[in-house]
Amino acid sequence: MNNEKNLSSLKFINNRTGTNSYKWDKNENIKYSFGIADMDIALSDNIIKSINKKIDTGLFGYEYISENYYDTFINWVRNRHNIEIKKDWITVVDGVITGIKIAVQSFTKEGDGVLILNPYYHSYVDAIKNNNRRLVTSNLIYKNNNYEFNTKFFEKIILKENVKLFILNNPHNPTGKVWSEKELREIYKICSKHSVLIISDEVFGDFVVPRNSFVSFSSVCGSNGLSIIATSPCKTFNISGLKISNFIIKNYNIRREFRNQKNKNMSERANCLSLAISETVYKHGEFWLNSVITNSLINKKVVMDFFKEKYPDIQIVNSSVIYWTWINLTALSITEDVLHNLFLKHSIEVSYGSTFGNLGDGFIRVNLMCSVDNIKVFLSAFDEILKSYRKLRGNINDN
Ligand SMILES: Cc1ncc(COP(=O)(O)O)c(C=O)c1O
Repeated sequence: MNNEKNLSSLKFINNRTGTNSYKWDKNENIKYSFGIADMDIALSDNIIKSINKKIDTGLFGYEYISENYYDTFINWVRNRHNIEIKKDWITVVDGVITGIKIAVQSFTKEGDGVLILNPYYHSYVDAIKNNNRRLVTSNLIYKNNNYEFNTKFFEKIILKENVKLFILNNPHNPTGKVWSEKELREIYKICSKHSVLIISDEVFGDFVVPRNSFVSFSSVCGSNGLSIIATSPCKTFNISGLKISNFIIKNYNIRREFRNQKNKNMSERANCLSLAISETVYKHGEFWLNSVITNSLINKKVVMDFFKEKYPDIQIVNSSVIYWTWINLTALSITEDVLHNLFLKHSIEVSYGSTFGNLGDGFIRVNLMCSVDNIKVFLSAFDEILKSYRKLRGNINDN
């Protein structure tokens, strides 16, 4: 891969304020955001040109989901991850969290236990609680700067709380844990033993490096298994505002139930622009995505070198997902409120650990999908923040 050529083709938008962006416009004092998981990188001109062909027709009426849409998605998964899926298994839904809500409604009753791993992506909690299901959590174990799966506790809590559904995040947001085939098989075995349906949310699967180290849950569950795999072009190609996702369900009965529930809530038609744009990016977006990943690897190295040199007591959690980095600040003994205020003084936003449950306390998640210039702004602000915080603590300790 020619790195320089790749990177020169990327269009960074270093300031996205005033664009109604959830990431940038949450607070008018924010001038740099490293929070919510979308990218400050625009799609390439040739992709936009291809999308414009659809816009130029001026026709946005009701559309079928075309054979082409399915084919481009199936080819993407085959080429990128060597996984074979069949068209019949795919249900297109308006977003991953929407699909997870549909599954919660289809396969559990009010009051049933739905299990997630702590730390967790907070929208899972909404999907469970907004549907009056019980939130059940199993802790990941943080050890030697990695996160480990607690098999014994996982099985115990399934039995104790009579869990019906488990939402797995593969790879895991925010810790960056990439699940091994052995772990996934273990999870599948335990869940099958206790008739627990698994949803594997794989939206960050395209960001695992090297790419052949990503193991989709679809490779461990049998053709009739109790599992649903959720994926989408949205994170991969930075089109999250288009709200489109693909739910892959091999088991006929589960698929039928899921579609029935979907039809109770939503039109069977999908958004025609989301379909056209997704088809285009699956077909033409690979070079762009590889460039984005190269850039992000550079950003990650800049962050790691900075901490290694200046703050070796702060640990960057080991991970081969390169969308964000999960940083352990517990060595600083700084509260999240204090940290938040200090970052705000520098007009900077990051994702704070407590958003991801109590096991996120003391951590921050920093989005790497931006220019290296912006990453350097973050690091220099962080340096200033730590200097002033240490001075402040020194003063407190002196008094
Ligand atoms: C793990 C995970 N799943 C799903 C989503 C959201 O997906 P969607 O916007 O398609 O609902 C996010 C967004 O950050 C996420 O981090």
